[in-house]
Amino acid sequence: MAFLDMQGVVYTYPGRPPVVDGVDWRIDAGEVHCLVGRSGCGKSTLLKLAAGLMQPRSGRILMRGEPVRAPGPQLGFVFQAPTLLEWARVIDNVLLPVSLQRRPRADDIDRALELLALLGLADRARHYPRQLSGGQQSRVALARALILEPPLLLLDEPFAALDAITRGELQDDLLRMCRLRRTTVLFVTHDITEAVYLGDHIVVMQRGRLLDTLRITLDAPRSQAMRHGAEFNRYCARVRAALDGDTA
Ligand SMILES: Nc1ncnc2c1ncn2[C@@H]1O[C@H](COP(=O)(O)OP(=O)(O)OP(=O)(O)O)[C@@H](O)[C@H]1O
Ligand SMILES: [Mg+2]
Repeated sequence: MAFLDMQGVVYTYPGRPPVVDGVDWRIDAGEVHCLVGRSGCGKSTLLKLAAGLMQPRSGRILMRGEPVRAPGPQLGFVFQAPTLLEWARVIDNVLLPVSLQRRPRADDIDRALELLALLGLADRARHYPRQLSGGQQSRVALARALILEPPLLLLDEPFAALDAITRGELQDDLLRMCRLRRTTVLFVTHDITEAVYLGDHIVVMQRGRLLDTLRITLDAPRSQAMRHGAEFNRYCARVRAALDGDTA
């Protein structure tokens, strides 16, 4: 049984043609799938459907065989914009998924501080979001998504606001954490090299449909040096060609 199974998924905003238009997609446990596609092709919409934030107009989405109905602790989600609570300190933003269930304990707070340290924000725990840079806010949102160690992580361009070096470091952190816990990941990005670096599968979306799937067989764990290798660049060229095939 697939971990996440989308079958004939269609979504339409009122009065518009479908923005997700018959998507079939199977993701096995522990896999990292990257979704790439041009702006407006439906990536964020598909991710929100996978999260249960919206329901498909037709078709269905199953997680471990059960229909996805609403987000819960089984799921970590990083939105395209960081969406932090402005009035809550960084530490309390990270602990939000715990607070929604129960009062955070000392070990929850330790885990939150550990995650913040891992993401280079050890000295920011008592700050408010407005006191952070955009990239730092994105990292807080990532820590919040990871705090409950969810089996499924959905990320919508989480590193788009970061410089190349920080982005590379966070990609490595993300892969390490997910491999450790065998987290299943669906990662939306515009960045072809990011998709090839992170993904073991890359799915190309075009006007609401999945156009192409590439299996990436680079060695794991990845290393930053791979980015300069011929094999890595061949994969990038293939993804690029698939995207260029989209002439809309
Ligand atoms: N709430 C909404 N109401 C109506 N149309 C919407 C709404 N949200 C998104 N759309 C439209 O649906 C289409 C797909 O949007 P979506 O946000 O899924 O694209 P995307 O692939 O994530 O784009 P980007 O790469 O720019 O983030 C776009 O044409 C967008 O204008
Ligand atoms: Mg989007």
